[in-house]
Amino acid sequence: MFMGGDIMHRTFSTLVGSAAFGLALMGAALADPVDDTLVVEAPAGEITFITSTPAPDHLKDTMDTIYSGWLYRETETRDLQRDDFDNPGMVFVDRGLDSWNKAQGAKGESCAGCHNGPESMKGLRAVTPRVDAETGKLMTVENYVNECVTDRMGLEAWGMTGDKMKDMLSVISMQSRGEVMNVAIDGAAAPFWEAGKALYYTRTGQLEMSCANCHEDNQGLYIRADHLSQGQTNGFPVYRLKDAGLLSVQQRFVGCVRDTRAETYKPNSDEFKSLELYVASRGNGLSVEGVSVRH
Ligand code: HEC
Ligand code: HEC
Repeated sequence: MFMGGDIMHRTFSTLVGSAAFGLALMGAALADPVDDTLVVEAPAGEITFITSTPAPDHLKDTMDTIYSGWLYRETETRDLQRDDFDNPGMVFVDRGLDSWNKAQGAKGESCAGCHNGPESMKGLRAVTPRVDAETGKLMTVENYVNECVTDRMGLEAWGMTGDKMKDMLSVISMQSRGEVMNVAIDGAAAPFWEAGKALYYTRTGQLEMSCANCHEDNQGLYIRADHLSQGQTNGFPVYRLKDAGLLSVQQRFVGCVRDTRAETYKPNSDEFKSLELYVASRGNGLSVEGVSVRH
C-alpha cells in the first residue's frame, strides 16, 4: 500500500496471470506492438488500414494510442492478412456469399431478393452494436441477421456462433473493410455502454481478473507464446489459426472469461452484447479489417 499503487497492481496481476498460465515469471517479457503497415490489394483497389491511432476521448485518461491486434502477431500471421489469396478467412466469405444469394426462406426468399448485393450492407459493421431507433434494442449484426431469418424468411433462428451465422457475418463485415470503427456511445446507447464498461472492469473467476487486467494493464506482455494485445474487436470475425476456423467477437469473450476460470455468459446475453458495444468503442478510430487472421 505504501508503494506506488500502479506498480503494486501491475506486479500482482502479472503474477496471477503468469501462475495461471504455468509461466515462469521471467516469461513476463514486455514488447511493444510492431511498427508495420497493413495494406491489402483488394478487388476494388488497394486498402490501407488504420492499425494504430490516438485513443478515443473516453479512453484519454487511460492510454494515448489504440492498436489493432494485428500489430501484436508474428510476421507470418500478419502476412496472411496482406493478401486475400493467402487469407484463410476468405473461404468463409465465399460461403457467406453463396448463402446470401441462395433461395432458402420458407417461401424461397433470399437475402439478395430483398437487399440486392451484399454491398447494401456497407458501413453496418463499423457502427454496430448499435441501438435500433425503432425498438430501442441493442442490436449486433447477428441480431439483425436473425431478425430477417425468422421474421422475414420464416426460418428457425440461426445459431449465434454457428457456421451459417459466421459465414454471413464475414460477408457483411467485408462490406465495411477499411472503414473506421465508430460505434455510438451516447444517447440511447449510453446505458448499454455503461453496463459493458462495468463488466470490462469487473474481476471474475478464481483468478479474479478483469478484461482490463490483461488488455489494459498488461498489454504488451507475453503469456506463453501469446503477445497480449489490447483486445480490440475491429478484426472480427477473426480466422484463428489455432482453431482453423472463424471466431465471432462474443466467442472470443467466452474464451477469455474461461481463461480466468470463471463461469461465462452466453453469446447474445444482454451482458455480452453490452460488453461488445463497450469493447468496440475502445476501438473507435481503427479500421474494420473484414476478416482478419490471428494465431
Ligand atoms: C423479405 C425481405 C427480406 C429478406 C428475405 C431479408 N431481409 Fe434483411 N432486412 C429487410 C428489411 C425490410 C430490413 C429493415 C430495413 C432495412 O434496413 O433495409 C432488413 C434489415 C437487415 C439488416 C440490417 C441492415 C441495416 O443497415 O440496419 C441486415 C444485416 C439484414 N437485413 C440481413 C439480412 C440477411 C443476411 C438476409 C438473408 C439471410 C436477409 N436480411 C433477408 C428485409 C429482408
Ligand atoms: C488472463 C488474461 C486475459 C483476460 C482476463 C482477458 N483476455 Fe482477452 N485475450 C487474452 C489473450 C492471451 C488473447 C490472445 C492474444 C491477444 O490478441 O491479446 C486475448 C484476445 C482477446 C481478443 C482478440 C483480439 C484480436 O485482435 O484478435 C479480444 C477481443 C479479447 N481478448 C477481449 C477480452 C475481453 C472483453 C475480456 C474480458 C471479458 C478479456 N479479453 C479478458 C487474454 C485475456
